[in-house]
Amino acid sequence: MQKAIRIIAVAGLALPIFLAAQSSSNVTLPQDKGADKVDVSKYPADQQKGYKVFTDKCSKCHTIARPINTTMTTAEWNRYVKRMMHKPNSGISDSQGKTIYDFLAYDQENRKDKNPSAFFKSLSDEEIEKLKAQQH
Ligand code: HEC
Repeated sequence: MQKAIRIIAVAGLALPIFLAAQSSSNVTLPQDKGADKVDVSKYPADQQKGYKVFTDKCSKCHTIARPINTTMTTAEWNRYVKRMMHKPNSGISDSQGKTIYDFLAYDQENRKDKNPSAFFKSLSDEEIEKLKAQQH
């Protein structure tokens, strides 16, 4: 019985710490509500492989819909992938980052740039902070 109480107490202390660590990414952005898949069946084989790395690595902290529905220039994607890689515990190596960037650049030019109004422009830090404040 004593032991059970101790386990519950420890779990109770750990939960807020866990939630605090997650809180930077648990905001819902408009992009999160869009499609969560890309039809890559006509993409080159390399990009189909890249898509797998992308969906695996970029869905850890937020929805995969977020990058799938965000449109930006390829130069911005280059910077953005690095920004995501440098977040604590991103779990993305340099070579995986390169593969993911190549996929995002291809997808930008061959899917998003053909129909830009179907996608969301990336939000500024201020806009993200505002959404966080509204949602908490
Ligand atoms: C370690 C956690 C983490 C991982 C892994 C991660 N992201 Fe993010 N991502 C975030 C957070 C947190 C935000 C909210 C904005 C910020 O804090 O930079 C975000 C925001 C975004 C946005 C929204 C941009 C905007 O301003 O509207 C895009 C797009 C994005 N991520 C793409 C990616 C891609 C592509 C990958 C894979 C290379 C990825 N993310 C992996 C944490 C992560």
